[in-house]
Amino acid sequence: MVMKWAPDSWRGKEIRQVPTYPDLAAVEAVERDLASYPPLVFAGEARRLKEQLGKVAEGKAFLLQGGDCAESFAEFKADNIRDTFKVMLQMAVVLTFGAACPVVKVGRMAGQFAKPRSAPMEVLDGVELPSYRGDIVNGIDFDAAVRQPDPARLVRAYNQAAATLNLLRAFAQGGFADLHKVHQWNLQFISGSPQGKRYEELATRIEETLDFMQACGVTPEDVNQLRETDFYTSHEALLLNYEQALTRVDSLSGQWYDCSAHFLWVGDRTRQADGAHLEFLRGVRNPLGMKCGPSLDPGELVRLIELLNPENEPGRVTLIARMGADKVETGLPPLVRAVERAGQKVVWACDPMHGNTIKSASGYKTRPFDRILAEVRGFFAVHRAEGTYAGGVHFEMTGQNVTECTGGAQAISDASLGDRYHTHCDPRLNADQALELAFLISEQLKSERQARNNGQVAAAQ
Ligand code: PEP
Ligand code: CO
Repeated sequence: MVMKWAPDSWRGKEIRQVPTYPDLAAVEAVERDLASYPPLVFAGEARRLKEQLGKVAEGKAFLLQGGDCAESFAEFKADNIRDTFKVMLQMAVVLTFGAACPVVKVGRMAGQFAKPRSAPMEVLDGVELPSYRGDIVNGIDFDAAVRQPDPARLVRAYNQAAATLNLLRAFAQGGFADLHKVHQWNLQFISGSPQGKRYEELATRIEETLDFMQACGVTPEDVNQLRETDFYTSHEALLLNYEQALTRVDSLSGQWYDCSAHFLWVGDRTRQADGAHLEFLRGVRNPLGMKCGPSLDPGELVRLIELLNPENEPGRVTLIARMGADKVETGLPPLVRAVERAGQKVVWACDPMHGNTIKSASGYKTRPFDRILAEVRGFFAVHRAEGTYAGGVHFEMTGQNVTECTGGAQAISDASLGDRYHTHCDPRLNADQALELAFLISEQLKSERQARNNGQVAAAQ
């Protein structure tokens, strides 16, 4: 029997990955404050995203989700937000060209702070301190006072998320995302690279097309989609007291929404059917994601989807596969088949980052570009073989010129990882690598589309 849900019913369940705060009364005071603050997103926006993801589930749109592994207080700057937004717009344009269908854009931004960790404590030179769990919980420096979880950080994270979202909304709707500005999205440091040049050529073609449309009487004044874009936010719903505090009843529908972001996902380490994270997420009406790693049993997956989406609403559940390049072709098909057999309507997206993390010879956590690409290719191959739709991608990326993932056209080597390694958690694709990947996926989407069209022609003959 399904038990009654409330925003705090997760508190009665077993929970993983929670920080240990020294002063619980201080945490409760912050939770009360947060619960009185304005929501960050409006439920109607989350519903709109769910509808758009419903189109992805039907194979009529493609999902692009990306941003930081962990946002940080130190990297909170307008330029960083703008540049990640620019790269996402560039990638979306490239993908739209390949897929010839709308691209739904969702940032890992404006709330992506809390991190699951493999161990609660970290030991360095014989000293043991709590692990870093993201800036919303504690600080990254290996210092006893900084590593102590501090509830005041919840408020700072909320304020940073609000300001980030404010800027993203302004960019998305205030003219910056106007398709006529397609040339200006190219970032200075990649404009000379092969990717940058290829992008310039595409931008010129788009400009010519817009001129042609204008000559035919189609202008940005009449067509909103040319002038502005929809951009949504998302993060892992890990820190449930933060999520609960921002969960509100929507006055229009009377339903509960987690108004900390449009889209929330459950991580690979916290998706237990009887655990606190599933309990919280099943009750909010936002579109949801679930990470699917190699340890996930197909029967368990079907059960988890049923818990999150008992009405089988398309767009409600996005499965974010993160198997690893070496496991995707064997690990993914049983999951896809189980979901198909159960008749569950889902979006399948590929996170080629989290199953491909290694330690470099120089001691940095990194991800080889070739492995990332191999997982994306494997993901598409599996869906083609199974007759299902490869609906999206999920990246850790930034608009900055960082050196965190090896390889790509810039051929970042092990030895150069230390040059600009800024991430607070996992290694991200830089703008050049992200764009390179977008071009490669765009080609893949184009060939999928041609294969489908040929299939239709053959069937009609
Ligand atoms: C993440 O997306 O940053 C993450 C921790 O992923 P996963 O839960 O798939 O390991
Ligand atoms: Co990560």
